Amino acid sequence: MISKSTIDQVYETARLEEVIGDFVQLKKSGSSFKGLSPFSDERSPSFMVSPVKQIWKDFSSGKGGNVVAFLMEHEHFTYPEAIKYLAKKYNIEIEETEQSNEQKEAQNKRESLYLVSEFANNYFQDILHKTNQGKAIGLSYFKERGFTEETIKNFNLGYSPDEWSAFTDHAIKKGYKLEFLAETGLTIDKGDKQFDRFKGRVMFPIQSMSGRVLGFGGRILTSDKKAAKYLNSPESDIYHKSKVLYGIYHAKQSIAKEDNCYLVEGYTDVIQLHQTGVTNVVSSSGTALTSEQIRLINRLTKNITVLFDGDAAGMRASLRGIDLILEQGMNVRVCTFPEGEDPDSFAKTNTLDELKHYLNENAKDFIQFKASVLYEDSKNDPIKKADTIRDIMNSIAKIPDRIKKEVYIQECARIMDISEEVLFSTLAQIDKKDNQNATKQAPSAPKAFDVIKHQQPVKKVDVQYVLERKIIEVLLLYGNRTEDFEDLVLKENEEGELVLEPVVQQSKVFEKVFLDLQEDEMEFSNPQFKDLYYRIIETLNQNPDVATEHMINTVDAEIGNQITTILMEDERYELSDWERNNIFPKHKTDSVSQLVSETILSLRCHLIDQKVIGFQQQTMANINEVNISVLEEVKDYSGLKMLLSRKLNRVL
Ligand code: CTP
Ligand code: MN
Repeated sequence: MISKSTIDQVYETARLEEVIGDFVQLKKSGSSFKGLSPFSDERSPSFMVSPVKQIWKDFSSGKGGNVVAFLMEHEHFTYPEAIKYLAKKYNIEIEETEQSNEQKEAQNKRESLYLVSEFANNYFQDILHKTNQGKAIGLSYFKERGFTEETIKNFNLGYSPDEWSAFTDHAIKKGYKLEFLAETGLTIDKGDKQFDRFKGRVMFPIQSMSGRVLGFGGRILTSDKKAAKYLNSPESDIYHKSKVLYGIYHAKQSIAKEDNCYLVEGYTDVIQLHQTGVTNVVSSSGTALTSEQIRLINRLTKNITVLFDGDAAGMRASLRGIDLILEQGMNVRVCTFPEGEDPDSFAKTNTLDELKHYLNENAKDFIQFKASVLYEDSKNDPIKKADTIRDIMNSIAKIPDRIKKEVYIQECARIMDISEEVLFSTLAQIDKKDNQNATKQAPSAPKAFDVIKHQQPVKKVDVQYVLERKIIEVLLLYGNRTEDFEDLVLKENEEGELVLEPVVQQSKVFEKVFLDLQEDEMEFSNPQFKDLYYRIIETLNQNPDVATEHMINTVDAEIGNQITTILMEDERYELSDWERNNIFPKHKTDSVSQLVSETILSLRCHLIDQKVIGFQQQTMANINEVNISVLEEVKDYSGLKMLLSRKLNRVL
């Protein structure tokens, strides 16, 4: 583990604008910098970096956060990777917290499973490169397949000795526990005897997005008909095959850069394509693609190109699985290879230019592709054709974007030689049916194509939301300041009348906010603001001098993003040409105390309005019973409202 003091030092030293400047061209704009969003294609800059606040915000994608969040988003680093990157950039020595043997033992199970897998990964590579058996059998197999030395090293390929328990014995000798060896599936534990699962196989380690070894695939080298050609690690606490994609670690950068991801069938396709120079490629290794895997890709790009073997039956069977990708709002293209070829063999026998050219020429939009393939199959058979139309419309129904849907319907009408009206009404039927099913199964489950039916009514400005958010903003920006607050207090004057008199009191902003809101027993209605509110109050209460800007370094990414959004509100105004458009952002109050009082009072007024409305509805409902106590309350609240309004007017 990286020590707390190293992490603190990294945060203190790293300059956000310098770090981001390595990836994005930044231009000075007022007190901030702006540039083109690195997360989307755009012509006018909407990416802002505030050196003062040390946070960034990308107004086109909504992403934002501190320096670490940027590296995690842009480079797809894990948290420790980001810290290490910054430490290296700023020559900060990384101090790892020393672990005793006991701590090592107490380390959680997942960590142990990772360690075992990493150990096995090194072991299989050592065997491949350093032993006679490894070289003669494993290495020569890979070379025969056309993998270069560099590729073999890059993908950490290995070999598991053709002996019953060579790996297990070695691991136990090195102090790894049988419990974890068995849990990862590397060892099959038969009680009195243990066996290596991957005996005599060449090994393909499966790595996470950040490069950790999660599991293995092993290919047999003999032509034993009874044994499976490929064996995979069983599911474990660290390996969930539905959540990993083979090759994602090696492909993530270029997937984001090329803004496209090639999806292939297996390990050898990924490796061969990569070696030829197409590096934005992953595989779901043998299993059907899952929505978790698609989400993994979705973080990097919206575009997937599925590469099919030149085997017609297999391709037709896979068409259906692709609907899942459409459902996630991704753009899907497909590319087939000539009969008898797969991506592996094609990449092996062609140059990079030829491969790229082939992919560009032959990748077709999925819906168009499916429509034309199925149309060819069914054009002379009316019944089959009807099925086909329904099949295609099922795919189109999965697309969340309404405009895209329409465009596809027009396309399909043309390809399948049928009227658009028929297609639209088929779509409506499918939507209706799905909707009924959805209500039957899970009433609240959001469906991707809900877009069409439940269009949100134009939202009124939610006053409460705006005010709660403003409170958070005030706390983040000025929470630790001491200010003079003027309050109106009821006093008796010389004539014995009650009058409001101004009294000035000094107080910390956060205390003022907290006490005033507590007085009204005010609760935040937005759960995220509520959580954030208590966090801020607690932090400031413990250490009134803490710089609130630093809070962002202590919270998780999602909350960090919220804080950023709130704090970067000003920069958003800077982005658009407000003056020319004659729209002015809300006038910035010059005095902090004025802003604080105004915000709290506005919120209190709003809450009272809500209360009064509530009472009114209550009275309306029970119109026959004259409810004295309710009327009294309304009167009280109206009085209070008047008082608050006077205070508010004074502030403004
Ligand atoms: N695959 C798998 N399980 C199998 C067969 C195949 O996971 N039982 C996956 C592997 O990831 C493999 C890909 O599908 O890389 C391609 O399959 P195949 O061509 O049969 O495997 P190869 O190792 O390329 O075998 P061959 O040399 O016979 O082409
Ligand atoms: Mn093959």
